[in-house]
Amino acid sequence: MSKALVVYGSTTGNTESVADNIENVLKKGGWSVDVMDAADVSVDGMADGYDVVFLGSSTWGDDSIELQDDFVPIFDDLDKAGLKDRKVAVFGCGDSSYEFFCGAVDAIEEKSGKLGAILLGESLKIDGDPDMGDVTTWTEAVMAQA
Ligand SMILES: Cc1cc2nc3c(=O)[nH]c(=O)nc-3n(C[C@H](O)[C@H](O)[C@H](O)COP(=O)(O)O)c2cc1C
Repeated sequence: MSKALVVYGSTTGNTESVADNIENVLKKGGWSVDVMDAADVSVDGMADGYDVVFLGSSTWGDDSIELQDDFVPIFDDLDKAGLKDRKVAVFGCGDSSYEFFCGAVDAIEEKSGKLGAILLGESLKIDGDPDMGDVTTWTEAVMAQA
């Protein structure tokens, strides 16, 4: 059985609801899943023991990219998470009316790649209210690549 960790940072609940949907899809597929709010996670060795790590953050800020507050410490210490050679999938909510649409997703993807993670699929960028059908399709595509 594959084992996944889903870590999310969410201020108004959108990225949290996406994380919950990802969990449901993975469990339906027979995976074992741990879901953690970024506010409650210790980054040291966070990814150890997991086949796939899902990292999710919404984007904040106006003229620069800001990750969701709770995700910032994880991002800053991501090198301690144990992502090298680990399969990673990145997701997040944003709003395309901002200059840096889902900039947090791009930043996490880039840093994970530099740390040697194996990025699965195209990262999921959600514009506005999450469409859970899209989330399900994306999660199933990630599972197929894992
Ligand atoms: C002050 C403010 C700044 C924002 N900045 C961005 C941004 O730079 N890029 C983006 O894609 N979305 C931006 N957003 C939109 C949020 O990311 C979006 O509302 C998202 O769904 C929030 O997800 P969460 O509930 O998981 O925190 C901003 C929203 C606010 C209120």
